[in-house]
Amino acid sequence: MQTSWVPFFPDSASSFSWQVDWLYFYLILVSVVFTIPIIVAIFIFGLKYRERQKFAVPEGIHGSVVLETVWSIIPFLVSMTIFVGGAYVYYNQYRLPDDGMEIYVVGKQWMWKIQHESGQREINELHVPVDTNIKLTMTTEDAIHSFFVPAFRTKMDAVPGRYTYMWFNATKPGKYQLFCAEYCGLNHSGMIGYVYVMSREDFAAWQSGNVSGQTPTEQGRDLFENKLGCASCHAGGPQQRGAKLEGIFGHEVKLTGGGTVVADEAYIRESILNPGAKVVEGFQPIMPTFKGQVTEEQLLALIAYIKSLSGVTTPAGSSPSGGSSPTTPAANSTAANAANSGKAGQPEAKPSAPGGNSKVK
Ligand code: CUA
Repeated sequence: MQTSWVPFFPDSASSFSWQVDWLYFYLILVSVVFTIPIIVAIFIFGLKYRERQKFAVPEGIHGSVVLETVWSIIPFLVSMTIFVGGAYVYYNQYRLPDDGMEIYVVGKQWMWKIQHESGQREINELHVPVDTNIKLTMTTEDAIHSFFVPAFRTKMDAVPGRYTYMWFNATKPGKYQLFCAEYCGLNHSGMIGYVYVMSREDFAAWQSGNVSGQTPTEQGRDLFENKLGCASCHAGGPQQRGAKLEGIFGHEVKLTGGGTVVADEAYIRESILNPGAKVVEGFQPIMPTFKGQVTEEQLLALIAYIKSLSGVTTPAGSSPSGGSSPTTPAANSTAANAANSGKAGQPEAKPSAPGGNSKVK
């Protein structure tokens, strides 16, 4: 696992990890270049200007424009290179690719629950194909957690009540450590796992070998049509009491009382948990809240379903094809999936479906 040429340095295994490393080494270089001459000068000046006679009168200095200009411009240029380098790395890391394979991550004291668009669920393990843009949509059921994969040089907090995103493109097949990097309670240090980067063939084999339950979209449809009864108001032609959901994702929605909002994950989440917050123009604020009735995973599933109504689909499992021999990481995951179905697979709270009357914004 340790293949880096610097001792104790994590492996470098994502498309942007070298950029972070170069910036890091550059900062060290700048620090060394400034620190060494200063320390040397302390000793030289200490000897050269040591006290030779008591009460000596120092020579007056009346400034030097050249010197002052030089010591202003050089640090300015150095700090600007740090700024430009940092901005470049930041921009690369936090601007999401359009074609990312979507994976949902829910943090919970003290585990990472992961769901693939193709339905597979994992705990504290994440299997991804190599050379593929992976986009994680994350939230948490309780405290703030932070998803950190040192080998990919990326980290993002999972924050209660909102969605955060991160992406990476793993460049080397292998097994990489995954940490929670935000103190989140007693077993924070145990909230660790592995990311398995597999060749596309191996990943396809892993997917087909880990037959999944419902995909998030299917689970969302099931909740929507059956378990939560959303469909009684939100589906069914022009007379429906609830706002139209088809085709809204990623587009602007007009609100009662003026104003618009872009229908993104955060908006859909808010509309389920706090329906009165932003009521769509032309509808009454009659939808009941579903707070406490849906888990974070169910919310993600509902969002996946509503996205699918807008034709927002992700390549997910569909793209990598061709089967071949499963690898060791694949074998490992079976245990996780088994544990999974018992623990996090299904909702903790049984949603009580509200009757088909009233409601909806
Ligand atoms: Cu989760 Cu620390």
